[in-house]
Amino acid sequence: MIGSRLRAGMRRVVPLAARKRMAILLNRLPGVPDRYWWTMELLRDYAAADPNGFHRFLWSHHLAYAESYDVASRFGSDRIHPTRVMLFEDLDRYLRAEGLDPARDIRSVFEVGSSLGYLLRHLELGLLAGADRLFGVDIDAEAIASGSAYLAGVGSRVHLEVADMAGLDAVARDEHFDLVLCAGVLMYLKPADAQPVVDWMVRHTKRVLVIAGLAHPDRDNRELTESAVRERDGTFIHNLDAMVAAAGGRVRWRRWEGARMVDGNTIYFLFVEPAERVG
Ligand SMILES: C[S@@+](CC[C@H](N)C(=O)[O-])C[C@H]1O[C@@H](n2cnc3c(N)ncnc32)[C@H](O)[C@@H]1O
Repeated sequence: MIGSRLRAGMRRVVPLAARKRMAILLNRLPGVPDRYWWTMELLRDYAAADPNGFHRFLWSHHLAYAESYDVASRFGSDRIHPTRVMLFEDLDRYLRAEGLDPARDIRSVFEVGSSLGYLLRHLELGLLAGADRLFGVDIDAEAIASGSAYLAGVGSRVHLEVADMAGLDAVARDEHFDLVLCAGVLMYLKPADAQPVVDWMVRHTKRVLVIAGLAHPDRDNRELTESAVRERDGTFIHNLDAMVAAAGGRVRWRRWEGARMVDGNTIYFLFVEPAERVG
């Protein structure tokens, strides 16, 4: 393995555009050892200088952490991540406490950052079996293509499209949804860029907006005066409560579990009602 000074020198000498091409190539070649690590090393300066651009680049090219999103390992109720199982149990309780029957009253669902559509499929087969509109968008075109092929093959009603969460009007400008879901996604945007996404989601929610983010391990996220950065992957730990308030939404129920890890992730869920009911 070449030393860290040599790698830093390589980053100074080789332009970023060339290193991005190298990262794509490295990930296309079969059997390259440590390619996740190499991808990160090639782009370390990019991650520091432009975190949004860095994460967008990795997801939209299905690189590094995106690689683990494939049909075989994501679809199926026994493969749903434990934090998402918790999220949907909370959702079930929340809806019932609101006097709603999930399978009867939730007819339309929109997921931001749906990847292959495995969460929507899980909801379609279970909690939200009455929904006739299940729409997911994601920047990862490879995941959308393979997820769509799988879903068509099993006769699912889930529909997926490629879209950047920064431009949701392109796919659903005039549509409103009983339920909008955004789990593990806003952490890839700086706070200034996450806010307009929260604004959009609140505006397009009829009944409940469900957001799952990274919990700050030491302080309740709603007390954060600025977003923190998770060391391990440069993702953001936001004060989503404040973003929801700025968007005109109302947090009706929340779960913040601090440092507790469930399968490698901390727990911070918000269930949000739009200030004004639409539709
Ligand atoms: C950690 S995965 C979470 C997937 C799924 N929501 C879940 O909870 O299992 C993050 C997802 O967000 C998507 N994503 C990241 N940046 C995005 C962007 N700018 N626009 C749309 N999707 C994005 C990624 O492609 C990826 O599918």
